Amino acid sequence: MTATVIDGKAFAAKVRAQVAAHVARLAEEQGLQPGLAVVLVGEDPASQVYVRNKHASTVEVGMASFEHRLPAETSEADLLALVKSLNADPTVHGILVQLPLPGHLNSELIINTIDPAKDVDGFHISNVGLLGTGQKSMVPCTPLGCLMMLRDHHGKLAGLNAVVVGRSNIVGKPMAQLLLGDSCTVTIAHSRTKDLAEVCKRADILVAAVGRPEMITGDMVKPGATVIDVGINRIERDGKAKLVGDVHYASAAAVAGAITPVPGGVGPMTIACLLANTLTACCRANGLPEPEGLTA
Ligand code: GUN
Repeated sequence: MTATVIDGKAFAAKVRAQVAAHVARLAEEQGLQPGLAVVLVGEDPASQVYVRNKHASTVEVGMASFEHRLPAETSEADLLALVKSLNADPTVHGILVQLPLPGHLNSELIINTIDPAKDVDGFHISNVGLLGTGQKSMVPCTPLGCLMMLRDHHGKLAGLNAVVVGRSNIVGKPMAQLLLGDSCTVTIAHSRTKDLAEVCKRADILVAAVGRPEMITGDMVKPGATVIDVGINRIERDGKAKLVGDVHYASAAAVAGAITPVPGGVGPMTIACLLANTLTACCRANGLPEPEGLTA
């Protein structure tokens, strides 16, 4: 079997177009513009690239983008004061504090100071608890993107065996909660799971989010399974820099029914879902119906 390639780049463009259309309607019918504030502390080069991309995508869909770039030595008190001022600002519907933060700042305290209704990353402990108990919440962007692609590919997910490899708070755990919410039978596996190959081989849906380059190989994939590769690993091969996922693409694609590539799979969905979450937050804040197909 040669797997269908799930084109995350094209799907993300579709999601962004849906968001843009809804934003245009909000402007026309309600005189409202969703706003996203992104806070970057320090000069981490990768973070600077992410923040630049977020700004460009936010403006492109017609939202207001508020960028706050602070020096690496910013005090915790100053950062908390900024977050509180964004919480109080009615033109800001979503707040994202770019991680990682410099070591002297308490990330948990800062994230948990964001108004949960504006926590478009879905990292606030209230949102984690709401998701875990099946209540309406803000959902982390990467797992939300994976869920959208899975729903698009499969239609209903109920009854399917899903294995999530990886137990991070940002991807693995919320991904498992979302799949459970769609009535999958869910297993969370990780790097220390016994007989990992055998566990993975039971999966109709296999989500790899373990952060180890090409760890999931074709012999671990059930024939016909859908494989979602969340990994983004920079490696060097034959003297060249290369981006690979957590899945060994060639061997897995030979067995799977469908697979996301790296790059061009899950990656582009993350920013698209950040925009979707900002739109959702704006609608909720104004007592308006939520955008269809863009929430969990
Ligand atoms: N750093 C890398 N990815 C992310 C993300 O999704 N959200 C935040 N806040 N920081 C990040």
